[in-house]
Amino acid sequence: MIEEAKLLIEQRTALRPTMGVVLGSGLGAFAEELTDPAEIPYAEIPGWPLSTAVGHAGKLVVGKLGELQVAAMAGRAHLYEGYTPAQVTHGVRVLHAVGVRSLVFTNAAGGINTQLERGGLVLISDHINLQGSNPLVGPNDNSLGPRFPDMSEVYSRAYREIAKRVAVDLCIFLPEGVYAAMLGPSYETPAEIRYLRAIGADLVGMSTVAEAIVANHMGMKVLGISTVTNMAAGVLPQKIHHEEVLEAGEMVRDTLVRLLRALLPALAE
Ligand code: HPA
Repeated sequence: MIEEAKLLIEQRTALRPTMGVVLGSGLGAFAEELTDPAEIPYAEIPGWPLSTAVGHAGKLVVGKLGELQVAAMAGRAHLYEGYTPAQVTHGVRVLHAVGVRSLVFTNAAGGINTQLERGGLVLISDHINLQGSNPLVGPNDNSLGPRFPDMSEVYSRAYREIAKRVAVDLCIFLPEGVYAAMLGPSYETPAEIRYLRAIGADLVGMSTVAEAIVANHMGMKVLGISTVTNMAAGVLPQKIHHEEVLEAGEMVRDTLVRLLRALLPALAE
């Protein structure tokens, strides 16, 4: 399926992207920035899972950002939709097959660390996988990566340094934080958030980690950016609604687009 998907993408565009970006809930706007775009609905790509979550467009856009050739996934599949870890990571595997070697993940996350604010951006420094699955379970393809891959620097230190520099230049506040991945789809309980804080998490979400594990296994360089769409359960005396998550995505959209526009060329240098 990965080979078929690769061939389809290569038929649809003459571009050969080396940089990929995955756009999470309500964060698809960056895909519109690409010039000479080939837009491929996920439904047309072999083996590609459709995203069913509200706020996920569900298309691959291959285009240019200046001279840089970029593949942007607008929308992703989640484990909570019932997709398998293999399906959730299909896009990353296909982008790798197409020639992408650097990946920027974006996502929506709840803020656990009370220093964080709704509508802010956070650079993911590391993650905690609490999804109860690992996308590398099963036979290992030794041609792609090792059976027991090292995970000591999934989110490239060099890339994070570049991202911090770019953010300073643009006057964008970009602190670092640890992202805890839960299965969802229910949000966490206040007790779960206290537990996540105690084990060192600053952010909580339901995506990215499986994709980052697969990208790391294949030797891709990874960066992760979370948008704090809400404070996590129990931090504020109010309930969490999916609408506020999408709304915060809107709030931060222009800032995220500005950051990605400057960041991707800087990472490619
Ligand atoms: N919890 C889990 N995932 C999320 C949250 C949250 O509070 N906000 C956005 N994605």
